Amino acid sequence: MSEYQVITADDDVQRDGTIKLHGPEGFEGMRKAGRLAADILDATVELVEPGVTTESIDAAIRGMMLDAGAVPATLGYRGYTHSSCISINHVICHGIPSEKTLKEGDIVNIDVTPLLDGWHGDTSRMFFAGEPPLKAKKLVDVTYECLMLGIEAASKPGARLGDIGAAIEAHARQYRYGVVREFCGHGLGRLFHDAPEVVHAAKAGTGPELKPGMFFTIEPMINLGKPWGKVLKDGWTAVTRDKSLSAQFEHSLGITEDGIEIFTESTKGLHQPPYA
Ligand code: MF3
Ligand code: CO
Ligand code: CO
Repeated sequence: MSEYQVITADDDVQRDGTIKLHGPEGFEGMRKAGRLAADILDATVELVEPGVTTESIDAAIRGMMLDAGAVPATLGYRGYTHSSCISINHVICHGIPSEKTLKEGDIVNIDVTPLLDGWHGDTSRMFFAGEPPLKAKKLVDVTYECLMLGIEAASKPGARLGDIGAAIEAHARQYRYGVVREFCGHGLGRLFHDAPEVVHAAKAGTGPELKPGMFFTIEPMINLGKPWGKVLKDGWTAVTRDKSLSAQFEHSLGITEDGIEIFTESTKGLHQPPYA
């Protein structure tokens, strides 16, 4: 049994395991934070090319957040010291920006979370450095489809949380791709990571019912090989155990009376690569 808690804009929100149900102020706040997050990824498109360092991209992202009056929610989060996560090729998630340069044919996930006026906009997309191999591009296409199928499942009346993972897993399985289990989507709003956990491989009809006012992310990580991952000694970088390529897309979402609102959709139509 999940507990729900109705939130008004000035409540002191705790990470107490309850699923928060937000009102119009919450939607307004998430719209602005989500729009900023999406705009930042739109502006990141032209920065991604072979030869650039991931820390230069991170610095540009930090600048865009600060210029917009936001702060990077990741900065100082559990000891993380960067403004984005940049995950290349076999890195599943939480890649740390560094002096490492992008190479021709890399597939790259960039994940940003500006905190704007107390609300978190969390989104990621894949980017191509140059022209990746066909099998990498196929993985990226199918991972985007997985995200959108998860969103579609969540938008149906009476949907339950498990319907999301069921839709994602069913699609990935058709290509024999592995769905990562170790990292999940999450509730968010005033908090960065809150209940519920949104698992990306689940059974339809299970889990809490999706109710209007719920805010959460869907962020499937899909591997070309086996689903298993491990975290490197730096304590953050999650990689595929079999070194196969991994892709991810993430949106922040709100359940409405009659469906779902995507807070982090690109206003420029830059939904998936290639963006040119
Ligand atoms: N943005 C990530 C997510 O989608 C979380 C990154 S936490 C960090 O939930 F500390 F690694 F940046
Ligand atoms: Co997230
Ligand atoms: Co994220």
